[in-house]
Amino acid sequence: MAGYFTEEGSAEAVNARMDENIDPRLAEVMACLVRHLHAFAKETQLTQAEWEYGIDFLTRTGGICSGERQEFILLSDTLGFSMLVDAINNRRPPGATENTVLGPFHVAGAPIRQMGDGISLDGKGESCLYEGRVVDLDGRPIAGARIDVWSDNADGFYDVQQPDIQPRWNNRGVFVTGPDGAYRFIGIKPVSYPIPDDGPVGQMLGHLGRHPYRPAHMHYIVTAEGHQGLVTHTFVGDDPYLGSDTVFGVKKTLIAPFERVAGGPAAWRSPFDFVLVPD
Ligand code: BEZ
Ligand code: FE
Repeated sequence: MAGYFTEEGSAEAVNARMDENIDPRLAEVMACLVRHLHAFAKETQLTQAEWEYGIDFLTRTGGICSGERQEFILLSDTLGFSMLVDAINNRRPPGATENTVLGPFHVAGAPIRQMGDGISLDGKGESCLYEGRVVDLDGRPIAGARIDVWSDNADGFYDVQQPDIQPRWNNRGVFVTGPDGAYRFIGIKPVSYPIPDDGPVGQMLGHLGRHPYRPAHMHYIVTAEGHQGLVTHTFVGDDPYLGSDTVFGVKKTLIAPFERVAGGPAAWRSPFDFVLVPD
């Protein structure tokens, strides 16, 4: 009999209530979500106390969210869900630079700087020259590519986490390539840092015996007309957290060389080319 709830037919009972005339994609996504949610409770034989704990956890997760803090995205990140959605939506041919998670610390509107400029404004950390080219799959330079970069400072914090301590736009900048597709800027050799772990997600990591650290990385958003946008990082190869990034953002192809240099404009040099895919 249609409509009555039974343990066996629980998901079907819920999904049968949807109107036939709703948006078909909404119907598909919601029906699948309900099926998986009910299957989860059945497989785990979820207890009432566990369900209450889950509701309380989600309530606390929402409670700590603000304009500056998005605990649900941290939850998605630490459960590997952000990287899964990113992977599904950014399948690329071999040779193209891979995407990784955006994270919560990108700020739109960073100053446009000249090639070769420094982005570190607090005088902390070991300087590093980042250079390379933005090219297409055939290795041809892409002119007019916009490279938006950001990293933490030497203490492991982004400027927006320390607005009273760090100068505004510290370790951030936008660079635009010329006809040779080349970019060049001086930042710092970034350091590993914990994601914000003073909320429910940090507690969850603690209960699971997981640390909250991300391996050292430089963030990039690379955009160019006629090409798919690239959201990525480059990682420092000798970082102890490379194999256990708390948000699962590391990809082998994104581990960049970091070479010590004597007598150059910076103590380190990190070469890396970005390969974009046509739209
Ligand atoms: C980041 O790399 O900035 C980041 C990514 C995910 C969660 C927290 C921080
Ligand atoms: Fe980061």
